[in-house]
Amino acid sequence: MNIKPLKIGEIVVETPVMLAPMAGYTTLPFRNICQKLGSGLSFTEMVPVEGVRRRLPQTMIYLDSSPEERPVGAHIYGSDPDAFAAAAEIIESLGRFDLIDINCGCPVRKIARKGAGVALMREPEKIRTIVEKVLENTSLPVTVKTRTGISPSLVNISEVAQAVEAGGAGAIFIHGRPATKRHSGPVDFEAIKRVKSEVSIPVIGNGGITDAQKASEMLELTGVDGVMIGKGAIGNPWIFKEILHSWKGLPYDPPSAIERKEVIAEHLIGLYEVMEAKNKLRKHHSPRVERLACEAFRGHMGRYLHGQTGVRSLQGNLMQVASIESVIDAVSQILKIK
Ligand SMILES: Cc1cc2nc3c(=O)[nH]c(=O)nc-3n(C[C@H](O)[C@H](O)[C@H](O)COP(=O)(O)O)c2cc1C
Repeated sequence: MNIKPLKIGEIVVETPVMLAPMAGYTTLPFRNICQKLGSGLSFTEMVPVEGVRRRLPQTMIYLDSSPEERPVGAHIYGSDPDAFAAAAEIIESLGRFDLIDINCGCPVRKIARKGAGVALMREPEKIRTIVEKVLENTSLPVTVKTRTGISPSLVNISEVAQAVEAGGAGAIFIHGRPATKRHSGPVDFEAIKRVKSEVSIPVIGNGGITDAQKASEMLELTGVDGVMIGKGAIGNPWIFKEILHSWKGLPYDPPSAIERKEVIAEHLIGLYEVMEAKNKLRKHHSPRVERLACEAFRGHMGRYLHGQTGVRSLQGNLMQVASIESVIDAVSQILKIK
């Protein structure tokens, strides 16, 4: 397969296979792991523009990145164009981000009710204004992550994509499902393909990619410029390597038990560090952060060890297991590593 680097404004994404933003999952340690395994671009978790505008420490912590994490986008949400513009200026001043990505797809009621996330799809002209205002206030490229529509009967991605392009955005990421379907169900390849033929900015397709075959299917059926992976990367950050190897015609070996364990350990320790940093911002520090990190890791753990015997009891035990060391010991046992 002929894979071309993706250009978003002046930014070059060497491999057009990237990790989707996922609230609660795409923390810095997980993004670092995915990047090392081939993800060409990553995004922060969803960050509220109002919190950035007020520089709230509990918001700003979501804009943590590492010097090696490049290129990386700040993924922001809100509804007021002026708040987006103010937040963009602050984000650029941090000097850590290569682009600013606007969330126009989040279906969570408490967000959509305030006119943010997918609610913006009802107002394509407002999306255009937001993109324009952000571009007036920053020199970073702006992108938009959105969906095919609000519901199966309200598929207006063509209109939205045209507004995104008219506003001057550098790329559009399209999750091929309407908001009412949240994160599962069939992917509307036709809608993505149509948009690809209607706009000239790069279009990146997202939805349902769980292996190299599905990634190639997205490219072949829609002609998009790149693919974005969400749930398929949870517990399987090797998916980026698998896809890139397949596209380059190289053999791909799944990770060994030792590699799997090392990635699990890196992820869990990193998650603990993120949670400890958040804990320090609290008025009342919790003395149980290590334990909370082990608990919070349950979702990842089940996916990392999917199909192995003993995972269920380890997942149950994570509620009681108080230390990272004991979790890693249990992982070694499950993976039969001495
Ligand atoms: C737990 C979870 C959290 C998500 N959070 C966000 C988010 O903050 N912003 C966003 O644009 N999309 C979010 N998404 C949607 C994903 O980015 C992606 O579009 C969706 O999961 C479809 O891709 P997939 O089928 O590869 O998972 C989230 C999805 C999941 C499962």
